[in-house]
Amino acid sequence: MSQRLTINQNNNPIYDIVYEQDFNSLAGELDAFDIKNKKLCIITDSKVNSFYSDEICSLLKDKCKKLIIYVFPSGEQSKNLDTVKNIYEFLIQNKFDRKDMLLALGGGVVGDMAGFAAATYLRGIDFVQIPTTLLAQVDSSIGGKTGVDLDQYKNMVGAFYMPKLVYMNVSTLKTLDDRQYYSGMGEVLKHGLIKSASFYEWIIDHMYEIHERDLETLEEMVYKSCNCKKIVVEKDPTEKGERAILNFGHTIGHAIEKAKNFELTHGECVALGCVAAAYISWNRNLLTKEEYYEIRDMFVPFNLPISIDKIDPEEVLALTTSDKKVEGDHIKFILLKKVGKAVIDTTVTKDEIMTGIHEIYFSEEDWDE
Ligand code: GLY
Repeated sequence: MSQRLTINQNNNPIYDIVYEQDFNSLAGELDAFDIKNKKLCIITDSKVNSFYSDEICSLLKDKCKKLIIYVFPSGEQSKNLDTVKNIYEFLIQNKFDRKDMLLALGGGVVGDMAGFAAATYLRGIDFVQIPTTLLAQVDSSIGGKTGVDLDQYKNMVGAFYMPKLVYMNVSTLKTLDDRQYYSGMGEVLKHGLIKSASFYEWIIDHMYEIHERDLETLEEMVYKSCNCKKIVVEKDPTEKGERAILNFGHTIGHAIEKAKNFELTHGECVALGCVAAAYISWNRNLLTKEEYYEIRDMFVPFNLPISIDKIDPEEVLALTTSDKKVEGDHIKFILLKKVGKAVIDTTVTKDEIMTGIHEIYFSEEDWDE
């Protein structure tokens, strides 16, 4: 069953998100943007290219003025300004002008890079997101954030730039390896925790189908998860306020990601960060003990960690304060009041963050006991 969500701003529709189980409707959806008079450039990475480019090229090649494809090596190491420069050069060589269009086919890195190139090439060219990972479908393709890493600084350069369309083919989730798939579940669970208790219950009730990657369930899950994000980004598209609640689990999560040198997936780090933040919420009597333990333990059936060894808690603490979510001396920390309700708090102290880090830290001494 195909479904559709519209992202609005100030009550005006900005772009649609369509949910499908194949790519068959892509050309029809793009027709609305007059692609017969446009050149299209698919931007993708080497991994996704081998899975989907042939199919998409054969669906689109007769529908537009010209179709070209730019492929860069897959992985976070490509997410830099050199790759963006190569994309600009490729577009210039192929005489792309402002009326033409980019298609971002892939996961979060592809979406961020193609989105940033689209935002800046000729001061802005249309682009469409075609996310193929769970992380990209439920998070990075929605809300218009684009970003590029600068040396060791993640997403240091970027722009808010909205796509014209997001086309989700949930059957692409079938080809993800288990670790990447469950990494996306970290963000899915987070959306339920911060915005919708009923969606959180739905996830738990559909655990079996989620493990099976049943297509109807995946479509419903991605749709419901995006709906949580839609409510937040419509109210605060450029993160002046409430959008920060999407960072639940990310302050400590990003610090662990860096401390572990990106050996853990993003969703694994987000799960650990959510557990630590829920623990701090319990310490502040926002959550009950039972609520805390239920939230913590619910990551386990989705193959996500709730404890970690071989970290230096002091280093993790230091990294939390170098995060982008720091304003002046205040960390914009996200706490939970209950399942489905997150709050922004700028009074969380370093000591409280340290207790959260210690709650998830499983040291060698713990083994000995
Ligand atoms: N991934 C968080 C946001 O889009 O704001």
